[in-house]
Amino acid sequence: MAEELLVKKGSKEDMYEMLLPQIEGLLAGETDTIANMANVTAALKQVFDFFWTGFYIVKDGVLVLAPFQGPIACTRINYGKGVCGTAWKEARTLIVPNVDEFPGHIACNAASKSEIVVPLIRTNKVVAVLDIDSDYYNSFDTTDAKYLERICGLIF
Ligand code: SME
Repeated sequence: MAEELLVKKGSKEDMYEMLLPQIEGLLAGETDTIANMANVTAALKQVFDFFWTGFYIVKDGVLVLAPFQGPIACTRINYGKGVCGTAWKEARTLIVPNVDEFPGHIACNAASKSEIVVPLIRTNKVVAVLDIDSDYYNSFDTTDAKYLERICGLIF
């Protein structure tokens, strides 16, 4: 396992392209989900310095807080609630340019302005979500969705 990530500042696409093989290397040979989620959140935090980056895992019919980087956060989110619960219900990536305009958005931290949530789907079921919050509006687009979906595909 490499000890350090090397990603030069550049376009978002270029940075994800540099990061993706390094995350593949980081996760290769490790099957523990929590360990892999922990390293993915650390890698995304280090490279992009998002305000909050973390996972919620589906446990007993509710999303429960899992490895994350950033300020303390809500521990449980119900099915269909907030951006995370909606991404779980709809089993698709949700990009929210302005959280104030998302009905039912759960404000774990008032500093969050935009958000992306990517579901992790295994055997046709959502088993977890990756949630990333930015303290700027309009931080996420289809480039983030494309690469974050690929990164989530490496976990489990
Ligand atoms: N904003 C999320 C809740 C999780 S926190 O942002 C970490 C939502 O609406 O589901």
